[in-house]
Amino acid sequence: MKNTYRELIEQTYYFPQEGFDLKDGYLSFNDVDLKSLINKYGTPFRLYYLPKIREQIKNARGYFQKAFDKHHYQGNYEFCYCTKCNHFSHVIRTAMKENVSLETSSAFDIDLIERLHDNGRLDLDKYIVHNGYKTDDYIQKIGQLMNHGFNNTITVLDSAKEIPKLEALNVEGPIKIGLRVSIEEEPQAAYYTSRLGINKREIMDLVKEKILDNPKFELVMVHFFVDSGIGDNLYYWGEFQKGLNLFTQIKKIAPTLNALNIGGGFPIRNSLGFEYDHEYIVDEIVRNVKEACNDAGIKEPDLFTEFGKFTVGESGAVIFKVLEQKQQNDAELWYIIDNSLMNTIPDAWSINEKFILLPLNKWENMYKRVNIGGISCDHSDYYNSESLNQQILLPSFKDDDEEPLYIGFFHTGAYQDSISGYGGIKHCLIPSPRQVVVDVDENGNITDRLYRDEQNAQNMLDILGYNE
Ligand SMILES: Cc1ncc(COP(=O)(O)O)c(C=O)c1O
Repeated sequence: MKNTYRELIEQTYYFPQEGFDLKDGYLSFNDVDLKSLINKYGTPFRLYYLPKIREQIKNARGYFQKAFDKHHYQGNYEFCYCTKCNHFSHVIRTAMKENVSLETSSAFDIDLIERLHDNGRLDLDKYIVHNGYKTDDYIQKIGQLMNHGFNNTITVLDSAKEIPKLEALNVEGPIKIGLRVSIEEEPQAAYYTSRLGINKREIMDLVKEKILDNPKFELVMVHFFVDSGIGDNLYYWGEFQKGLNLFTQIKKIAPTLNALNIGGGFPIRNSLGFEYDHEYIVDEIVRNVKEACNDAGIKEPDLFTEFGKFTVGESGAVIFKVLEQKQQNDAELWYIIDNSLMNTIPDAWSINEKFILLPLNKWENMYKRVNIGGISCDHSDYYNSESLNQQILLPSFKDDDEEPLYIGFFHTGAYQDSISGYGGIKHCLIPSPRQVVVDVDENGNITDRLYRDEQNAQNMLDILGYNE
């Protein structure tokens, strides 16, 4: 066993592999010369590689087309981009070049949709699927969107309590609605049934009593999303079958129902050793839907997906410089990087999400086992487990090396910016709450004042680049 970093990687994985290669001793990402970006911009920086987004959309469509051809599937495939995954204007505008439909998750998302339309980037007949908890504001804005001429908005009910609020909307024509079926969680989860969606036990009664004969509504979609992802495992296929059964039962009494939405959760590469056959999984999904519909004697639905992470995850990277190495005891060597991991890839810290971690230079050096630490003063600001034997191995270096060690976390393009609150954006564009300051004055009286009002949509859209 040899022990330069390059040899380690070549012996452990297929390398080079899609998106990653060595050029003149430096790592390239999708053929992008990272060293020249470091020379130009300095570190740390967050990188968007936009062509990957279009490629992933085409890939997904390709998988479905292939499966549709093979199984003579009669429905259509609709690719919706789930905006919450990454709302930046350069990201969504790139996805729009592939003519995607969109999925929204909160009120400010509707402002974003309107803005895209005003700028000529979104046609009125695109599908806009409204998911998430429907606050009064969100519902009002959905109504406005319909009144502005968006004729393919589908409001997916997350709860039966949304029905009267939608009924009260002043809109012309029936409101296209979907039903989100809540799923049972995996056995090791902290709760049994997802809070998202409507309980399976209630759904049939709801359809019969509140939806079918209601002129205000047209039921067009059943939606279920297994939030731990589309895995090739018993749990996923079990939930999938339950959702599918419910779809076929509802379709028998609701002829307008013509779409099945399987949400997001299509995995991306989070390690160089990642193995997942996207094409096979889509084939299985399509085959199962086809068979279930044939058995039930119903027409195959259009299939909708809301792939977020799959669309944008692999387009992103964060690049750091190692500022210092710190041997804290015989076994623990720390590489301190020039930013905070909690602030740049928060999912690594909060939900133990793994990203591909690679050095950008020094591949001919010996490798060492290290922990990576951020420069925030929080003890949790570290990254120390990798699929490679559950430890992080990176090239060694000397303190007086002329060039520092650079490292990158790759495939970080989904969720990290909003969860870390880049510039003031928020997860699902849920605004920062108003800030109320309470004090006691010199006479001992309690005083209060509003320091800042609730964040508004304009502020969020500014940060996301919609006013440029
Ligand atoms: C309703 C819904 N659809 C789609 C997605 C996207 O999931 P992913 O990014 O895993 O594809 C989410 C993510 O939370 C979601 O809640």
